[in-house]
Amino acid sequence: MSDEVAARLALAEALAREAGAMALRMRDDLGPVESKSPIDFCTAADHAVEAMIRARIAAAFGDAVIGEEEGGEAADSVWVVDPIDGTANFIHGGPRWCISLAWMRRGRVELGVIYQPREGRLFSARRGQGAFLNGARLSVSHLAHGAAPLVEMGWSERRPLASFTEALHRLTEQRFEFRRHGSGALGLADVAAGLNDAYAELHINAWDVLAGLLLVREAGGVVNDFLANDGLTRGNPVLAATPEIAPRLSALLGIPLPEPVEMAGSETP
Ligand code: IPD
Repeated sequence: MSDEVAARLALAEALAREAGAMALRMRDDLGPVESKSPIDFCTAADHAVEAMIRARIAAAFGDAVIGEEEGGEAADSVWVVDPIDGTANFIHGGPRWCISLAWMRRGRVELGVIYQPREGRLFSARRGQGAFLNGARLSVSHLAHGAAPLVEMGWSERRPLASFTEALHRLTEQRFEFRRHGSGALGLADVAAGLNDAYAELHINAWDVLAGLLLVREAGGVVNDFLANDGLTRGNPVLAATPEIAPRLSALLGIPLPEPVEMAGSETP
């Protein structure tokens, strides 16, 4: 693998591990917690990890970066970075937070890496070449478990609480199970790993989802066109699911899927 995607995938995997180790060290002495809204917080670790990632990318490739904490602009070669996704879980000391890195070339997501330090889970995908967890190939569930489909439904204050509770109501009426664990990136990674049957949220930002959407797609799942209508900078609804339930969820949540629904493939999320 000597091409430019392979070189960036190698960097992304190394960088995710380095970022995870740095965040873990900083968690020992958390410092003040900044409040972006009543339930959206940020720590010195979020800033320091993003700064480290930006410096490493600049030194290795000089690519542009869009990051959760410092922003940034689209470019032909751009990384989309969440230094800590699941910051609330990080602050509370739980395990469900991660580093999420995606690289886009000319508007298409080429690679995605998600690393969950507390569980030692490194998810990675390259467009057209499958999705992996610590080197083992992943597949969405295809509902092989035989139980009620499990949907993780995220929520933030960017959308009214009522729209979230109404969605949960409709899911429950249709015999779906639901969860909310506080990291969109890991929710998507778990769909790719077949641990959730779907992840949905009525608005989420690109740094939370681009790596995870590629993972789901490469694991045989169905995803919405997140990058439509300036999703890269403004965010969008997200839906990612095992193919068997994707059309029903799309109708139930009002999140359109590309037509015709593809069962597997390597298109851009
Ligand atoms: C948040 C998490 C959460 C999702 C929110 C995101 P952050 O990101 O991914 O699960 O529901 O929409 O903003 O703030 O922890 O990086």
